[in-house]
Amino acid sequence: MTYLTVYTDSEEPETLLESEDAAEIAATLKEIDVVLRHWQVVEDLPPGAGQEEILAAYREQVERVIAEEGYTFVDVAQLHPDNSADWPERAAAARQKFLSEHTHDDDEVRYFVSGSGIFYLHVAGKVHAVLCEGGDLLSVPKNTTHWFDMGTRPAFTAIRFFHDDDGWIGDFTGSPIAARIPDFDTIAANRAARAS
Ligand SMILES: [Fe+2]
Repeated sequence: MTYLTVYTDSEEPETLLESEDAAEIAATLKEIDVVLRHWQVVEDLPPGAGQEEILAAYREQVERVIAEEGYTFVDVAQLHPDNSADWPERAAAARQKFLSEHTHDDDEVRYFVSGSGIFYLHVAGKVHAVLCEGGDLLSVPKNTTHWFDMGTRPAFTAIRFFHDDDGWIGDFTGSPIAARIPDFDTIAANRAARAS
C-alpha cells in the first residue's frame, strides 16, 4: 500500500501531509501531474522469478500501458539481499545512483511487483515522498525534478517502461535538497510507528 508524506522544501522541512488513504494520495499527486495506479498483484509468481516470467504474469496490464502511452521498451529491475560478500557494497552503490535530485528526458514509469522504494518529487516548493509497494504503478512525467531512495537494505522487483532506451539517464541538478528530507529508512520507521 502506498504511503505519501509531503514536505516543504525549506531549509528546515516541515511535514504538510502524511497519508495512507489511496484516494487522498491519488488526488494529491494528480495536482502535480503524477499518476498513481494500482494493479492486482499476481500472487503465484515464484520467488526468484526472472524477467520473462514476471512480464508474462503481467502481460495484459503491461500491453495496455504500452498501447495507451506508446512505450517501446519494458524491462524488470530487481534487487534483493543475498549472502554474497559484496552485497553491502552493491546495495550502497545501487542506492547512491539516483539518490540526488535529477530529471530525465523520458517519463519514469515503474510498477512495483514486490518490495518498496520512495520516489521524491520536488515540485512547486514541496517534496512529495511516495513510498511505493507491490501493486503500485507510478508515472513521473519527464523533466520532473525528483530522486529515488531504496533504503539501506534494498529489496524490490519493478517493471520499468521507457520510450527509448537512453531516456532514463539522469540529468543531476546539483541541489543538496535530498540530504535534508527524511530518507527511506526514516520514513519507513515513521510509518511503522504510526501503524502501531
Ligand atoms: Fe529518476
